Amino acid sequence: MEKKHVGFTGTLGFVLSAAGSAVGVGNIWRFPYLAAQDGGGVFLLVYLILVLTFGFTLLTTDIAIGRRTQKNAINAFGTIHPRWKFLGKLTFLVPAIIMTYYTVIGGWVFKYIAVYLSNQGAAAAQDGYFTSFITAPVAPMVFMLVFLTLTSVIVYFGVDKGIERFSKIVMPGLLFLIVGVTVYTLSLKHTAADGTVRTGLQGLKVYLVPDFTGMTVGRFLRILLDAMSQLFFSLSVSMGIMITYGSYVDKNVNLSKSIRNIELFDTGVALLAGAMIVPAVYIFSGTEGMKSGPSLMFVSLPKVFEAMGSMGRGIAIAFFLMLGFAALTSSVSIMETLVASCMAVFHTTRKKMCMVIGLISAGAAAVICMGYNVFYFEWMLPNGSQAQLLDVMDYISNSFLMPLISFLTCVFVGWVIKPRWICEEMEASGHSFSRSRLYAFMIRYAAPVIMAVLFLQSTGLGKWL
Ligand code: PFF
Repeated sequence: MEKKHVGFTGTLGFVLSAAGSAVGVGNIWRFPYLAAQDGGGVFLLVYLILVLTFGFTLLTTDIAIGRRTQKNAINAFGTIHPRWKFLGKLTFLVPAIIMTYYTVIGGWVFKYIAVYLSNQGAAAAQDGYFTSFITAPVAPMVFMLVFLTLTSVIVYFGVDKGIERFSKIVMPGLLFLIVGVTVYTLSLKHTAADGTVRTGLQGLKVYLVPDFTGMTVGRFLRILLDAMSQLFFSLSVSMGIMITYGSYVDKNVNLSKSIRNIELFDTGVALLAGAMIVPAVYIFSGTEGMKSGPSLMFVSLPKVFEAMGSMGRGIAIAFFLMLGFAALTSSVSIMETLVASCMAVFHTTRKKMCMVIGLISAGAAAVICMGYNVFYFEWMLPNGSQAQLLDVMDYISNSFLMPLISFLTCVFVGWVIKPRWICEEMEASGHSFSRSRLYAFMIRYAAPVIMAVLFLQSTGLGKWL
């Protein structure tokens, strides 16, 4: 049976657990390469504005729905309005899909921790190393299973003794590591083969200063959409996770303040990750090195660590450990959402659900691993990019379902139950909600329009209109 008093012990536990969900490979891997590819400071500026408007709106909506209904996503919408029950079910699909591939990526990160601990950094810097690893039949599955087992164990221990306790240790540690590694990379200097000297501070300039060369309306729109979809993924919104975590928060916790801190933590880590990675890649490979996109983390960075010389291995271990922890707290939040929802639906225990969902996830993730060998294919996605199985799942959850769910949630809150419903929850226990007017405007007008555009664009449907 679902227990009534499951929950975080206090504000700090909630903020760090939610930040744990939000801060993940998205911040440390995706954000820096998007910033590098989307004109540095231009992307940063756009992103910051979006966090304070859209990010804040979506995060507030999810957390307030969770706390007010005291239900996880699958039941929350139906409790508020029986006709909108379908939205809960639709939302449940997102963590279910993400779970299949996030553990695979987590496994890759664990592999690289093992690589550097066993001093094989030189091999990892060779061309083709990453590809030969992910296409191997057994190794990616083994690392995925280790990652998934750890995730399941943390979720098994429950909200306060598992998730909260783990996040309270890991999140401050992560912040410490990222600040340390960033300061170190910024202090670096390297002379390239052609004699040019590049420094960390020059790299920082590339990252921070807006680059408007070749900027057109089309390109700006592209940057806007990149920043928008990054924001969803990064804040873990519109996928039931924050609704579930919101349902674990005590009524007298100040939600406005907590939400501000979660935004700050998530954005702070992303900005720091960029300030660490963009200059590091710039120093050793110039601006060319930053065009590598998704392969940045597993292909370009090992080359950078190798070029760092004696310090490279220590920095690589710190980096991948940080990434591993960030990925773990995120996958814990995905699994918790699935487990909590299934516990409520099937009226069963956490222990049983952890085992069942752990097993199903292992099976599904194994299939995703095989997407690089047995089930290898190359598909063209509607947004024009080449995809394998993992990318297809990522595409369905992030580019298709998330904008759709966000759009429907905005319509539901903005026009059916009205923004006041959320504001009341934000003001519960006498707290003030200073951004209530901004919230109401965003949820009724700005957010649904942008979500609809994002949906049309990322599904390729926009071309037909
Ligand atoms: N927010 C996490 C990140 O930025 O990596 C990723 C994430 C966590 C995505 C949980 C989805 C999710 F359900």
